Amino acid sequence: MEIIIADDYEEMSAVSASMIAREIQRKHDLVLGLATGDTPVGTYKHLVKLHQTEGIDFSKVTSFNLDEYVGLAPVHKNSYNYFMRENLFKQVNISPSKVFVPQGNTSDPEEYCAWYEQQIKLAGGIDLQVLGIGGDGHIAFNEPGSSFASRTRVKALFEQTIIDNSRFFERAEDVPRFAITMGIGTILESRKVLLIASGEKKADVVAQFIEGPVTSQITASALQLHSYVNVVLDKGAASKLKRKEYYNWVRDNKHLVQKQIGR
Ligand code: F6R
Repeated sequence: MEIIIADDYEEMSAVSASMIAREIQRKHDLVLGLATGDTPVGTYKHLVKLHQTEGIDFSKVTSFNLDEYVGLAPVHKNSYNYFMRENLFKQVNISPSKVFVPQGNTSDPEEYCAWYEQQIKLAGGIDLQVLGIGGDGHIAFNEPGSSFASRTRVKALFEQTIIDNSRFFERAEDVPRFAITMGIGTILESRKVLLIASGEKKADVVAQFIEGPVTSQITASALQLHSYVNVVLDKGAASKLKRKEYYNWVRDNKHLVQKQIGR
């Protein structure tokens, strides 16, 4: 796991966007896993800018979003489908036929989830998965106790997630209680992972998932089992890490580290 500590939200967003852009430049038909929420808004803004100014080309990119609320149609203003259209898809040249966001109002969620997994396989698997982290340590909507072998399925949301996400809804009662979410097993099969987190309110879970034990109670800790994970944090989110100096040293001396491992 490589930990990058940026000064603030703005720098965290710029660094993560350039990491994504670099992957698209390396592989034009990249299969990109995407997250929603407050955290990636800045990253997507920077990606749009890179598309406009540096010509980062999304025309061959395929994207798969992590999750969607059960019951919300793609046109619903609180749906993740809507969020993605507004924050990224309509501002870059991604092909609508290559965009996959789970459909919250599907009539047969079980069959739909199996189909979604199948689409990821048919696309060749996810090359780079972008993740945020929830206040309860979740990745996607894999709430505490989720199996590390889990696949795309319907998951009941944890109380804290409902409270955290009620800020997007008029009333707390309007927050859906269930979501379709990629599983931890699905996420762990991605070739590379990029997790971003911002703000002191995430500091505890960030420290737990990076420096604590691997546990299904903090599902992001499953990433300790993945061989290629970049974590980009701002100072607030990194504030409870014990080994900050070490992570900063590794980042600043990457050329020496790469020389040692013969890259
Ligand atoms: C959203 C998702 C969630 C969020 C997490 C953090 O697609 O998968 O795991 O990444 O809840 O949300 P924010 O960024 O709003 O704090």
